[in-house]
Amino acid sequence: MSALTPSPLRVAIIGAGQVADKVHASYYATRNDLQMVAVLDSHLDHAKAFANRHGTKKAYQDLQTLLREAKPDIVSVCSPNRFHYEHVMAALEAGCHVMCEKPPAMNPKQADEMRLAARKAGKVLAYDFHHRFAQDTQLLRDAVQSGTFGEIYVTNALALRRCGVPGWGVFTNKALQGGGPLIDIGIHMLDAAMYVLGFPKVKSVTAHSFQRLGTSKSSGQFGEWDPKTYTVEDALFGTIEFCNGGILRLETSFALNIREQSVMNVSFCGEKAGATLFPAHIYNDVGGELHTLLKRDEADDQRHIRSMDAFVRHVQGEPVMIADAEQGLVIQQLVAALYESSEKRERVALC
Ligand SMILES: NC(=O)c1ccc[n+]([C@@H]2O[C@H](COP(=O)([O-])OP(=O)(O)OC[C@H]3O[C@@H](n4cnc5c(N)ncnc54)[C@H](O)[C@@H]3O)[C@@H](O)[C@H]2O)c1
Repeated sequence: MSALTPSPLRVAIIGAGQVADKVHASYYATRNDLQMVAVLDSHLDHAKAFANRHGTKKAYQDLQTLLREAKPDIVSVCSPNRFHYEHVMAALEAGCHVMCEKPPAMNPKQADEMRLAARKAGKVLAYDFHHRFAQDTQLLRDAVQSGTFGEIYVTNALALRRCGVPGWGVFTNKALQGGGPLIDIGIHMLDAAMYVLGFPKVKSVTAHSFQRLGTSKSSGQFGEWDPKTYTVEDALFGTIEFCNGGILRLETSFALNIREQSVMNVSFCGEKAGATLFPAHIYNDVGGELHTLLKRDEADDQRHIRSMDAFVRHVQGEPVMIADAEQGLVIQQLVAALYESSEKRERVALC
């Protein structure tokens, strides 16, 4: 390498599971200005197999040893939700930039401490809310900003599966995961909706949750699970009321008797026009007929790569949008309020 070429940024990955494999490592491998130097897993055999697959130099089981020996510039946190807080805090303390998988943490207190730690360290902390990086999402965000919709007063976010309880990992374990479909898949459409709306200030939250199918069925489109250890909700239905008078309704489920196998989408209804997010379609009514103002034929399937790319470019100093620690905290607060409302069966005020 010539003296003028900067050294590649050193990358470490924590949690050698499927998202680390398919998204983080696969993306980092496409860049010659990054070098994957270490991987850590609580199961050393996972870390070693991952290191072999991706040509990563070293596999670790102890985080402080990794941080001391491998000296990464960037850390991807891909461990189960329960461990995001401790892994992000340790990486920031060691002076690393961090890309953390969603959800940010288990509760708003942790997400807030992570936000403050990133600020104190002067490092980038981004969350992998990748649906906001689809070109569809950006088109709708631009349309909101240019006034195409007038005021949007009703938003419907759907993250529903007919029978799609994850059959791997710890997704049915409340203690390790923090919750079920809301914190796993609903959170994605919640973030995409909030991003398009420009993160309006929230007044209150109400929600109902159900646990009817996960504890009785045991297999579906994503494999098998043990109904005896299923401790998360199957479905949650919530309404977020904004200070501007608008509402965002969120429906999310791992298992619900609906016609479609899976629905991941958001629709927006404004005074002048409405829109569907995936694929982006903006419309209104002219003389009783649907009038299209903008339409993509297919939704952007590169959104996950764009999320990783934005993080790295941000680390390198480009002023590109990321799902940052401030917005991650707002999303974590909304998730907590939705769970609190569904448990107490009462409205939760947020301002
Ligand atoms: N952005 C997305 O669309 C997306 C998709 C999938 C998963 N995720 C998130 O990524 C995270 C991991 O999910 P996954 O599907 O890859 O799970 P996974 O079960 O495939 O992988 C998790 C890995 O972490 C390891 N692990 C467990 N405890 C650990 C600890 N204390 N320290 C280090 N490693 C530990 C496990 O051994 C396993 O190898 C979760 O937070 C999940 O919400 C995000």
